[in-house]
Amino acid sequence: MKTLVERVNNTQYSTIEDIIVENVCNNKNEQPFYVVNMQDIYRKHMDWLVLMPRVKPFYAVKCNDNPEVLAFLASLGTGFDCASKVEIDTILGLGVKPDNIIYANPCKTKSFIKHAQHVGVNLMTFDNELELHKVAQLHPNSRLVLRIKGDDSHSRCKFNVKFGADLEKAYDLLSLASKLYLNVVGVSFHIGSDCDHPSVYTDVIARCRYVFDLGAKLGHKMTILDIGGGFPGNDNAPIPFEQHARIINRALDIYFPKVDDHGNETNVTIIAEPGRYYVASAFTLAAMVIAKRVETLPDGQECFMYYLNDGVYGAFNNTIFEHATAEPSPLLDEGELYKRNIRLSTLWGPTCDSIDCVKRDFYFPELNIGEWLVFPNMGAYTCCVATTFNGFERAKLIIADDKE
Ligand SMILES: Cc1ncc(COP(=O)(O)O)c(C=O)c1O
Repeated sequence: MKTLVERVNNTQYSTIEDIIVENVCNNKNEQPFYVVNMQDIYRKHMDWLVLMPRVKPFYAVKCNDNPEVLAFLASLGTGFDCASKVEIDTILGLGVKPDNIIYANPCKTKSFIKHAQHVGVNLMTFDNELELHKVAQLHPNSRLVLRIKGDDSHSRCKFNVKFGADLEKAYDLLSLASKLYLNVVGVSFHIGSDCDHPSVYTDVIARCRYVFDLGAKLGHKMTILDIGGGFPGNDNAPIPFEQHARIINRALDIYFPKVDDHGNETNVTIIAEPGRYYVASAFTLAAMVIAKRVETLPDGQECFMYYLNDGVYGAFNNTIFEHATAEPSPLLDEGELYKRNIRLSTLWGPTCDSIDCVKRDFYFPELNIGEWLVFPNMGAYTCCVATTFNGFERAKLIIADDKE
């Protein structure tokens, strides 16, 4: 584990660390904060364009709805996946055209469907009969995308339990859509968030091909394949994005080739709904030790308990909702770090609730009150979910850099 200062001292000196140190020194309010690296988001976008050129990203707003991030992504030309009226209006407010939005919530609020129709957001997902009846009544000219299930067993957050039609249901759903004079234009899936076994994409893309052909036979003009999210966002992801891209590109070339057997362009638009891929590694959180206790455990061992100014009701909600593991690194210089004893440690959040535990029972250099910890990869499903429970303010955001 490299300390922050080690990273600052080596040749890969970065303004992020510089900004953290500066803000720690000036932090009189003892407030946690994120430093946001826009260049990281830019790098991710460029990687995406190079590695998966056939797939247009529609950023999943739910993952991190920070206005600067959304505006930056809009300026890069991504589309957006919105799940609610507020998300749709936020994105339209950035000047994004309605055609660059997919309303990707298979179970929608009636008034939100009406609103989508009113503002010209036509592309939307569904996965059940009752939703088709709702849409037929409220937005009959919408362009519908049937969300099917794929194998989500290799993903950190699974969605099949809540969304997605079984393949056997596809025929009935597509037939009902025809009877209701609705336009089904494509197929989507979400393999689950943070997938570490990208070969599952091959199977589900093959299933999409089956649904595409079925839809065409039933008279639908099938032109959109939406491969959802699931791509890694952390710098140290076990399976890097490159590998996901390689497997997905191959599956697309097999099941959705650019030209058919007769040499004709197939004209299928392929989109995705990446969330964590874009933002996870761009956000680094700094949190301070506000209190410390040493507890003697039943086996006689001492556990050093540190109370941080952020916890699971704040940025670290991802340890509960996302099954994430906090990865602290002490803000100490190397000489100081080596002097510290290694202790059995637990990190608590600041509230009076005992569920508010950030990381339990791990070995770590001993810390003092007033010292800071740095947590990388904190951009996905963190600030957008954080509360102010017990009167603790959310970590503020410091934007480190803009794309030059
Ligand atoms: C419909 C939908 N699309 C996209 C995403 C983003 O997924 P990820 O962060 O894994 O890319 C989610 C995440 O919840 C989702 O529900």
